[in-house]
Amino acid sequence: MNDAIQTARTASAAAGSPLVSVEKIQKIFVETGTRIELFRDLDFTIASGEFVAIKGASGVGKSTLLHILGMLDRPTSGRVLFKGKDTNGLSDKSLSAIRNGELGFVFQFHHLLPDLTVKENVLMPKRIAGGLRRADEERALELIRMVGMDHRLKHLPAELSGGERQRIALARALINNPGILLCDEPSGNLDVKNSEHLHALLLDLNQRLSVAILVVTHDLSLAALARRVFMMEGGGLRQERG
Ligand SMILES: Nc1ncnc2c1ncn2[C@@H]1O[C@H](COP(=O)(O)OP(=O)(O)OP(=O)(O)O)[C@@H](O)[C@H]1O
Ligand SMILES: [Mg+2]
Repeated sequence: MNDAIQTARTASAAAGSPLVSVEKIQKIFVETGTRIELFRDLDFTIASGEFVAIKGASGVGKSTLLHILGMLDRPTSGRVLFKGKDTNGLSDKSLSAIRNGELGFVFQFHHLLPDLTVKENVLMPKRIAGGLRRADEERALELIRMVGMDHRLKHLPAELSGGERQRIALARALINNPGILLCDEPSGNLDVKNSEHLHALLLDLNQRLSVAILVVTHDLSLAALARRVFMMEGGGLRQERG
């Protein structure tokens, strides 16, 4: 791609301010005795309000990058920035405050607590963040309504379908009003119909709440919704669209 086009695209994509960035990161796993080097000088930024997808073959490092961006893991070298500030010197307490308060996670498996109702599950991150207020209950109801599950408030996860559980996991990820949702194969366990429903919801929430969305996925129909699309290969990211 010619440099002028690349610059123009980067400029338009960065219309919002940078939320989470990685600079020149490298990740090496040696725990198993085999050295696995995943990224080489990888740079990536997601800005507020964006919808970005990262595709790539199995084992290429998509989940690892998402964990690094979500501050669940650290790179071997390079920097991770949150809202332009280096997170390197931050304590575990500060990092978990960012994770719980400013980032939302949706994984392939819903991770709902089995003994809590739909509403209690959605409110759980608020409890962790330091207690419930009346406004939180209203916010939870609003989010549960947005994902179309307000008729099932008192149900337990076991009483819901896979697609319904994943929609509740999505509402829970939004309860603290994060600037960004980090989604790892969010529809990986769902059939086509439920996947389409979840994908439409992600797009709707991105537009209605202006929450930035990063999905890592094999699912081409999900990637097709994103404004910027990257292919992870050869230790880096190749931009395909945006
Ligand atoms: N904690 C770890 N210790 C050792 N190796 C790891 C660890 N975590 C991941 N890896 C290795 O790093 C590589 C990338 O893993 P990752 O889960 O990021 O891939 P992925 O692109 O998400 O794959 P998939 O599409 O199958 O989910 C794999 O070869 C994996 O075995
Ligand atoms: Mg993965």
